[in-house]
Amino acid sequence: MNLTNSSNKSYDDFVVVRKIFFLWIFLAFQAPFHLNATHLVEQFQRVGYVEICDKKHEKAAFDSLYRYFDELIEFLQTNPIWAQKLYTAKERFIRSKDRNYYSTDFFGFYDESKRKGRSQISFYYSIHFHAFICSHYPEFNQVPEIIRFLEACLEIQKPYGNLFNEAAVELGLETILSSQYRHPPILLKVVKYFPSYIATRPHYDGTAFSLFLDSTDNQSLLLSPYKSSFTVDDFSSPLRDQNSILLIPGVLLTEFSIYPTPHMVAQCGKIRYATIAFAMRPNYSPQKVEFTPLPHFKR
Ligand SMILES: [Fe+2]
Repeated sequence: MNLTNSSNKSYDDFVVVRKIFFLWIFLAFQAPFHLNATHLVEQFQRVGYVEICDKKHEKAAFDSLYRYFDELIEFLQTNPIWAQKLYTAKERFIRSKDRNYYSTDFFGFYDESKRKGRSQISFYYSIHFHAFICSHYPEFNQVPEIIRFLEACLEIQKPYGNLFNEAAVELGLETILSSQYRHPPILLKVVKYFPSYIATRPHYDGTAFSLFLDSTDNQSLLLSPYKSSFTVDDFSSPLRDQNSILLIPGVLLTEFSIYPTPHMVAQCGKIRYATIAFAMRPNYSPQKVEFTPLPHFKR
């Protein structure tokens, strides 16, 4: 009798262990970035960021993205009529209902290469803006410099919807990113800084989360955990692994007592490319919140 019970129990234990093992395998594939709630909150407070190992990080994909970005820049600077068309498309898009999904008006091409000190060009990509362009302006499909860049952005941003969802779930804020769509609203920013770029002061991002995906010079990114007062010396470049990505909170989580991480790009005197994914809050009107003032950099 005892022997039978013991044997049944062993079998039951085996079944439980097997179930846990398969569940673990299932979750491992569902959640490739493995975030941890206590870790997230503690890291945000202590250092201002969470470093995540990104096994899918392909440097070659970002190199191609920057090459396509250069082609796009060259095309739009030599064909201002297309730059104007892109701007018109953006103006139309921000009057469509899909704009509210992102709760921002930042989309498309921003050429500040001739603005003293700014010396940068950026593109804010989103899948809805991409779809809007292709459906409302079919002539864009005939311009490889535009389409190649948009398709590269589409591929790059794909894995990170799950990461943002997971971060929100771990913080117990699963509803903040949910909407009628499967993925949270992601804005992908690709930026090129020129050697004449001058760093002035840090800023807070108007996002739920910002994810520093890639840059050609990691050392230039300076940040600090949120504090009640700041000096220039509070800002430093995180020590990090070559293939890691950094997650920081933006200003849209303040109501949950998660404060934004101020950061800036220091001047490095050379061309620098970077890619950042922003998680926005769907259909959200940001509240007016006063954050700690940030110091001027006079270096
Ligand atoms: Fe930023």
